[in-house]
Amino acid sequence: MEMNAQINEPQKAVYSEYVNRLLNVRGSQSEDASAADQLLFLRDQALARPNGTFLELGTWQGQATKVMLNALNGARGTLVSVDIEDCRDAGAGPNWQFVQSDSKDDATVLAHAPVLKDGIDLVYVDGLHTVAQVYAEIKAWFPLVRQGGMIVFDDVDPTPYMCGHRKDSARKEIANRAMATLLTAVFYENMDRLRMEMKLGSTGLAIWTKTSEIGSELRAYRPMTHPRHEHQLADLHDDLREHKPYKHTEADQVTLIPMDASQSPVGVKPCDSGQPVPFGRSPR
Ligand SMILES: C[S@@+](CC[C@H](N)C(=O)[O-])C[C@H]1O[C@@H](n2cnc3c(N)ncnc32)[C@H](O)[C@@H]1O
Repeated sequence: MEMNAQINEPQKAVYSEYVNRLLNVRGSQSEDASAADQLLFLRDQALARPNGTFLELGTWQGQATKVMLNALNGARGTLVSVDIEDCRDAGAGPNWQFVQSDSKDDATVLAHAPVLKDGIDLVYVDGLHTVAQVYAEIKAWFPLVRQGGMIVFDDVDPTPYMCGHRKDSARKEIANRAMATLLTAVFYENMDRLRMEMKLGSTGLAIWTKTSEIGSELRAYRPMTHPRHEHQLADLHDDLREHKPYKHTEADQVTLIPMDASQSPVGVKPCDSGQPVPFGRSPR
């Protein structure tokens, strides 16, 4: 299986050893297959747009940088990688430009990389994973994405199923859920200009495909104003444990996910699988 994956892939010169390692892992049964899959998804997008313009927000040691540069090798495409730190050694070659900047500071990035002004085919968002930063980044960069182009977000798997897995951390789970909530809320305000998909496993990827023309801006989203009430969750949980049928009523409309992770119910242990979830029944 691994060999077939390699044989079917176009052989590129730069970073091919790294890409081949990822291809082998993708063909394996290990959990790392999801992580490799995420990086290779970016490579597939670059292979499909060899003359495209790519923007990476958050460079670090250049895992995503390398897979995209591998795909663009020998073509006219450009990858601009941005990081607040000096990551100029993360990549190399004629298809690559590194800009040291805050990634939400579009004016500075555009001044150093004017190629982005003509339109961007894919933005990979993998910098500072806070709601405020990512919202600022998407507001800044969405207008420059071409129709049919993508914005791909890392660290978004919002599920509570990381127990025993590579990313087993309550903090990570809460941060990912806040990110998925933000992206979903923005999506629902902008369904006339983008589509959204999610890949689960590893850190998860959210994929926006822009359906509106270059220049169109994101409509502001409405943060959810009805915080989740713990006693309602407790009631629901009790009902489910006792196998009482749960009937959706109008009152349940306020049981929405809060934007602010600090409002999440306290004492929830995602690893207590099979155990009662320790929601306290709050006084009414
Ligand atoms: C998760 S790492 C990026 C990983 C990288 N995309 C990869 O595939 O290897 C996050 C990076 O975001 C950078 N970063 C943090 N805050 C930032 C900001 N405000 N603007 C730009 N980059 C930032 C960090 O310095 C770090 O290198």
